[in-house]
Amino acid sequence: MLVNMRELLADAMDGNYAVGSFSVANMEMVLGVLKAAEELKAPVILQIAEVRLKQSPLEVIGPLMVAAAENASTPVAVHFDHGKTLEKITQALDIGFTSVMFDGSHLPLEENIEFTKRVISVADEYDAAVEAEIGCVGGSEDGSEDIAINCTKTEDAVRFESETQVDALAIAIGNAHGNYKSTPNLRFDILEDVEKNTDVALVLHGGTGITPEDFVRCSHTGIKKINIATATFDSVEKTVSSWYNDGKIKGYYDLQAAEVEGAYQNAKKHILIFGSDNKA
Ligand code: 13P
Repeated sequence: MLVNMRELLADAMDGNYAVGSFSVANMEMVLGVLKAAEELKAPVILQIAEVRLKQSPLEVIGPLMVAAAENASTPVAVHFDHGKTLEKITQALDIGFTSVMFDGSHLPLEENIEFTKRVISVADEYDAAVEAEIGCVGGSEDGSEDIAINCTKTEDAVRFESETQVDALAIAIGNAHGNYKSTPNLRFDILEDVEKNTDVALVLHGGTGITPEDFVRCSHTGIKKINIATATFDSVEKTVSSWYNDGKIKGYYDLQAAEVEGAYQNAKKHILIFGSDNKA
């Protein structure tokens, strides 16, 4: 069923686990993620980032994501990831997304706070949740920019929370989008300090390549939403390629099944690590 992301994050706080937020680019990925969620009785978030709309137009994939969530047997929030413009954020809300992110991490804190408050007032009209970001997560959602990591400062998180009352806050603790060149060294000292001084649900971007041990530690240290994108795309591509190599693809529908399988296996693996299985 389609739910507000706020509910999922509140339950994750009570249950001391994190909810997987999986980026999708087509119907097969949506079906694969939801198959894993239903099988494991896990709440999940389906998301798409604004930079990805050139491949998957919002007016086409958005209604598909919402319909799939409505028809799922587990709670599913539909989230607009890394919103850059009020125009696209509003379009996502009109389509029925139950959560939107405004990414003002590149702005001075003051402006990030002001714009986030504007987004919250728009989202309030739809009773949708809002995620914001402070500090800079490395890389970019589509690999087109080499954004340097700039870790979040606790005092900024405290101020941001008190001035915006945002539902979820993405922080930078050494994490980056895309595949890491070497295993990331997450700054748990910063995460612990932010968690101690705030009440907001924290979000970890750049999930691909983070070790299971670090995921578990994050999920017990205030991180309630973990974003996974590249790992899904890689898993889909690798599954298709191995099914071709094994002679398992004899026609289009086998190709489609391989895509669903790749997304399913990746979501299943992460749900089990995040501890969100049997929480629906
Ligand atoms: P990855 O591509 O590293 O998994 O990052 C996903 C993400 O943070 C989407 O916002």
